[in-house]
Amino acid sequence: MLTAVVTTACLLAAYCTWNYASKLKSVNYLPGMRPPLSALSIFGALMPTSWWNPGLNWSWEWRKTNYFNYKHEVISMVPLIGQPAYYTCSLPVMKQLLKEESKLGLIKHPEMTSAVSIWGQNLLTANGDVWKRHRRIVGPAFTNKTYDLVWRQAAALYEDMVRAAKWENEQMVTVRNINQYTRSVRQIALMIISRCGFGLLMPWKDPNTETAEEEMSFSTALEWVSATTIPWRLVLPRWSYRLPIRWLRNMEHAWSSLAVHMNMFIETKAQELAGIIDGDDHVQRGDIFTRLVTAMDSSGKTGLEKQEVIGNTFALMFAGHETTANVLAATLGFLAIHQDEQEKAYQEISAAIPADRGLGAEDVAKLTHTLACFHESARMFPAGNMLPRDFIDDVTVNVTSPTPGTIVFPKGSRIIIDMVAIHHNPETFPDPDVWRPSRWYGVSEHDLTMFGAGPRVCVGRKFTQVEAACFLAHFLRDWKLDVELCNGETREQHEERVMGITKLTGIAFGVGPVDLKLIARK
Ligand code: HEM
Ligand SMILES: *[C@@H]1O[C@H](CO)[C@@H](O)[C@H](O)[C@H]1NC(C)=O
Ligand SMILES: *[C@@H]1O[C@H](CO)[C@@H](O)[C@H](O)[C@H]1NC(C)=O
Ligand SMILES: *[C@@H]1O[C@H](CO)[C@@H](O)[C@H](O)[C@H]1NC(C)=O
Repeated sequence: MLTAVVTTACLLAAYCTWNYASKLKSVNYLPGMRPPLSALSIFGALMPTSWWNPGLNWSWEWRKTNYFNYKHEVISMVPLIGQPAYYTCSLPVMKQLLKEESKLGLIKHPEMTSAVSIWGQNLLTANGDVWKRHRRIVGPAFTNKTYDLVWRQAAALYEDMVRAAKWENEQMVTVRNINQYTRSVRQIALMIISRCGFGLLMPWKDPNTETAEEEMSFSTALEWVSATTIPWRLVLPRWSYRLPIRWLRNMEHAWSSLAVHMNMFIETKAQELAGIIDGDDHVQRGDIFTRLVTAMDSSGKTGLEKQEVIGNTFALMFAGHETTANVLAATLGFLAIHQDEQEKAYQEISAAIPADRGLGAEDVAKLTHTLACFHESARMFPAGNMLPRDFIDDVTVNVTSPTPGTIVFPKGSRIIIDMVAIHHNPETFPDPDVWRPSRWYGVSEHDLTMFGAGPRVCVGRKFTQVEAACFLAHFLRDWKLDVELCNGETREQHEERVMGITKLTGIAFGVGPVDLKLIARK
């Protein structure tokens, strides 16, 4: 009996050693991290970040010292349990990889994008020719006409927000957690993509009227699905959805409501396009949704399956609002702390707004500093924080550190482009922990690296810039932002405490709760 146990133990130990050795070999013994659990596995991610477990937050929490103090452009992570992967903190490496990624032989592995493809294949998750087809259909919806609409809707929604919150006659308002759904930036961002991309005119929602039990509105369902339940949906078995646990029931309810809503939108749009019913006047021809639904009638290079239309609807709604909302919340937080930068933005906005009319999308170019504040916040908290790629061919890149030379990524291996590390790398961004908008003055669109690079660069970059510029112009015009300092802390201490916390909403990375004090400018 004892011998059997000992033999088994020995065999197991031998297997583990062999297995681990082959993992090390698969990344060519590149130095790096050797944790017990992979940060990309569900167990590793569920455990908090601590000295033995990188968890979900290692790239943020250890951002000052990761990558051997940024002396290694690429490291490997070889966990005892889970798959090995390369990680990079290098902007030059990112650019080399993404410049012509399909030619080089890079793909987004379905395993790494499953949270966004649950509803169907889409622009964010597809590869190769399928990706090209999706991009060809969705891309042309992003035009100046769309951006004009984005500006007008953002302006209108700002007014709705102020009215719903009953701020019009207030001299001072304290806002707790500006990024929480019912309080503003998150709801604004969702409404803008819904209205401008999908022609869905949802009314501004009062925080107190809706509960999960009644007929669930589209916005509530989407919010639930994307912000709260996606990770659970991926790990919990199907049968558990029906257990008599309230939270699980609500989750199931949200998911099925979302499916019903999305099917109904498609149905309505299809009828409208076929002339069976009248479209509303506000419906923009050529918006994302019109293009998606029209594509259902074609096949081949210009066609989409219904499941792909649903997939894109979800992906664009999701990529189009969590990201913007997180960066906007961070921008407001930083502006409230850095009064001098806020004053500069206020002066810029006042000068740009002519007395007799509002601004429009074409005025975005005048708001250089205001946009730089947004870009700098997106550098601090890059909403797309991990860009995963798998190599389907051997790929060689040039590196300069730790020693000048090349690194060959073998076919079959995986790399995570660590956007937090890239944007906190002191080689690229000196004093990375200092929020300094002037870094972005005069930087070309092409070098706004937090939107990615190459052919798969963010399709919504201009969309989000117009939206942010408009929202900030209106908000800062009417309100002076400030913070409430606790127990005699300095502004620096406040910044460290509040702006050092992060969270994931859905899979978008961003700042934790931000409280603001608003003082009326009028
Ligand atoms: C501050 C806001 C945003 C940030 C920081 C951001 C960031 C990014 C990044 C880094 C990528 C590249 C992903 C990769 O290469 O793996 C990306 C792609 C994408 N983004 Fe954004 N994004 C933002 C806003 C938006 C908005 C508003 C939309 C939609 C209206 C959008 C839609 C997309 C789509 C569809 C892709 C995939 C493009 C493709 O693969 O062809 N994003 N985004
Ligand atoms: C869109 O607007 C921008 C700036 O307002 C302008 O530079 C550009 O030429 C316009 N593009 C088209 C296709 O009209
Ligand atoms: C690496 O450097 C070599 C020589 O300078 C150059 O020919 C090659 O194109 C570079 N590779 C990449 C991926 O940029
Ligand atoms: C770490 O990540 C989790 C999940 O995203 C989040 O709830 C938590 O606040 C994060 N902690 C820090 C210190 O960023």
